[in-house]
Amino acid sequence: MTSLLFLKKPKQFLVVFILVLMAIQPAFAQINSSGSVPNLPALLLSNNGNAIKNKKDWEKIRRPEIAALVEKEIYGFVPDQKIDCTSELLEQDNNAIGGTAIRKQIKLSFKRNNQTISVEMLVYLPKGKKHFPTFLGYNFNGNETIYPDAKIHASKAWTGNGKELGKDSLNWPVASIIQAGCGVATMYYWDIAPDKEDFSIGIYPLFYQPNQLRPSNNEWGALAAWAWGLSRALDYLQTDKQVDGKRVIVIGHSRLGKASLWAGAKDQRFAGVISSGSGAMGVSISKDKKGETLSAVIKRFPRWNSTNFKKYLNQDSILPFDQHMVVAMVAPRPLYIASASEDQWADPSHEYLSAVLVSDVYHLYGYPTLSNKTSLPLEQPIAGRISHHVRIGKHDILPYDWNLYLQFANRELK
Ligand code: GCU
Repeated sequence: MTSLLFLKKPKQFLVVFILVLMAIQPAFAQINSSGSVPNLPALLLSNNGNAIKNKKDWEKIRRPEIAALVEKEIYGFVPDQKIDCTSELLEQDNNAIGGTAIRKQIKLSFKRNNQTISVEMLVYLPKGKKHFPTFLGYNFNGNETIYPDAKIHASKAWTGNGKELGKDSLNWPVASIIQAGCGVATMYYWDIAPDKEDFSIGIYPLFYQPNQLRPSNNEWGALAAWAWGLSRALDYLQTDKQVDGKRVIVIGHSRLGKASLWAGAKDQRFAGVISSGSGAMGVSISKDKKGETLSAVIKRFPRWNSTNFKKYLNQDSILPFDQHMVVAMVAPRPLYIASASEDQWADPSHEYLSAVLVSDVYHLYGYPTLSNKTSLPLEQPIAGRISHHVRIGKHDILPYDWNLYLQFANRELK
């Protein structure tokens, strides 16, 4: 039929052909930079094919569509159960860090099914300030490892990793954070959900139905559980009168940067989001990704996402979603994507690609779009509503990075 039309009425054929192309094409965003990734799902096109042209349509139509898609396909749903959440101030010192800070240690308890799990949150706040940003993020090895303060309670030894006091203080420059007039709050991520294939401990069992042993196929994996924990920590921070609960920035590095991204994407009460070296299933675009692939994540860390997500094993090139969709859910709030030059496992160029793509959404709010470069020159940060840098060096979160986060926080959350 079509070939007949082509022979008999070439002009009409051309019109039909262009119309068909237009109908298919907008379903995908083309990135025309060198090293482009074609056929990524479009951010600014609704499921029924309408262009999203303003912030109202983004908020009312497209953002909820994307939120539903990625929760269903990637992270899994938080089980629909009511959990009893309480907080208790265990300790407070109004003269911490040489008299410059308030230290608090708070026990958050979660109860259901006759089971209770408790998590301790360590908080340092700048003294004498009312409005200030607070960074909230998980630590890798226990609260006592972030700063050499002998008053910090020892955490549970979930792993064989060292728990020496202040051993990770390079990753948590607490004194500089306070000096910059910001607060910091942290919890040990294992306390919320274990980072191993075990669903019998952590927060999961509290949500189970009788005889349930693990989350069902469409329910959460560890990233969503960790994100849930960050939201519960925010619940507390928003009730603490010494904290500026409207200026809490969720932060995380590596797998915890994947968790901070999902927490901040989902929970719009977070005033800003920082995702450092989050790579695969973090901010990096999965399609055509170098280093760690989506399939590699499924194989090595099946616990991180829903069981349902495993159907995408070896489907990396034909995904109906990609990570720019998750990142876009942060818009229009301040967003920081950080990379390191030697972290090819995470793929800095694909981390930056997300920033470029989501800048179209930020543009609906009047922020500039990022130019279509595949990645940025080293250590020449972009300081804007979407901020970005590539530190020279390895996969890590270091004082160089924090210095930029402090500027970002004080600039974007004035
Ligand atoms: C591994 C994993 C990454 C993860 C990182 C981390 O390298 O493959 O996806 O980000 O661990 O959390 O340190």
